[in-house]
Amino acid sequence: MKILVTGKGGREHALLVALAESPVPPQLFCWPGSDAIFEVAERTRARDLPSLIGFMLEEGIDLCVAGEESLLVTDQGLANLCEAAGIPCWGPPKESAQLEASKAFAKAFLVRHGIPTAGYVVVDTAEEAMAAVTGVPVVLKFDGLAAGKGVAVCETMAEVEAFVEAVLVKRQFGAGRLVVEECLRGPELSVFCSIVDDRYQILTPARDYKRVRDGDEGPNTGGMGAVASPGLVGAEVMAEVERCIVQPTVAGLRADGLPYRGFLYFGLMLTAEGPKVIEYNCRFGDPECEAVMPLFGGDLAQYLKLAAGGELRPELLEQRGGWSVCLILASAGYPETSRSGDVIGGLEAVEGVRVYHCGTRRNAEGAYESHGGRVLAVVAQAPTLAEAREKVYAEAAKVDFAGSQRRSDIATLHFS
Ligand code: AMP
Ligand code: GLY
Repeated sequence: MKILVTGKGGREHALLVALAESPVPPQLFCWPGSDAIFEVAERTRARDLPSLIGFMLEEGIDLCVAGEESLLVTDQGLANLCEAAGIPCWGPPKESAQLEASKAFAKAFLVRHGIPTAGYVVVDTAEEAMAAVTGVPVVLKFDGLAAGKGVAVCETMAEVEAFVEAVLVKRQFGAGRLVVEECLRGPELSVFCSIVDDRYQILTPARDYKRVRDGDEGPNTGGMGAVASPGLVGAEVMAEVERCIVQPTVAGLRADGLPYRGFLYFGLMLTAEGPKVIEYNCRFGDPECEAVMPLFGGDLAQYLKLAAGGELRPELLEQRGGWSVCLILASAGYPETSRSGDVIGGLEAVEGVRVYHCGTRRNAEGAYESHGGRVLAVVAQAPTLAEAREKVYAEAAKVDFAGSQRRSDIATLHFS
């Protein structure tokens, strides 16, 4: 079987390694990929999305797996182009990927189908925005993709004014509307599902640590670490998530004529009133994927191939017990900026953990150096949370580069 994964980060590296561990290892390709990814997957000749489709046809690719969302939501849509070319694709068409690409679309979907979420209004101008904000805290969201920077949880009116100015006056993220949303409180939970038309399978849940500094302080990032386990939250919480959120979402997609075959990521907040949806993403989370994939056994390649063809076979995927902890090593200046070119030491010394490359490249001497904000994901599994944590921190301590940043409290703040 030939499988091509789209993307270039730690999530795609983890997906590719998990696919490579299938009982009959598939021939793997990646686009655009990275130097580390090309140790497990082959390069393509593609320059852009249309030439990628051409490459997949020529090469006889059996399955395209969408890692990141960017290609799914383009004008052409990765899944739309794959469908037209007859290539099975794991990832939804652009119409359904609006659930991630447009916050206003997602909110209207949630309300239409009676799925719990924060109250909101959508505005077009700064005047409308200021009229809609009746107090703080309040959450403001740019209605489009903004590389994780389009959301402001505002605790003061000064923050509200600054964000409204940046988005609706200076147009920092380009044209687009603003969602003004009620601020929810509670622990966050990332729930992943495989969705195949009207069927679904709930996968091992995870928690992402978004703030850059310990104690959930500092600006939001793409994620500084994650913890995953079937035991992360109680069975009763997962049952409520399934009944109030997953089932109505799958039914809503059908009712709205939105085809869906792919991972769907529910970003939830466990509020005092029960779980509520903060956002949908039409792909796996990053860094949650790096934590979850090592807990999977079975036959991921066959599972995804059949699922993309319309056949969901939960028994092909073994979801192991235990705990998995992922620690991100980020570069100097992240998340405001990132520094590239810092040589990474100690990679060969780590034992018994997995290291996925989020943003690295090989330098002229062949050594790995930083190349982006998030650089590496070090991931450990163990029967208990404490053991997994201890292992990940002990091994990650062997790896360093100039200016590296890492949180010391990943997987300590967990659910009661
Ligand atoms: P999003 O891009 O929608 O996932 O938002 C990024 C982050 O902002 C989330 O992971 C939350 O930490 C926070 N956030 C988003 N919406 C809300 C909300 N309504 N209430 C509180 N925090 C929120
Ligand atoms: N972990 C957050 C995201 O993947 O969007």
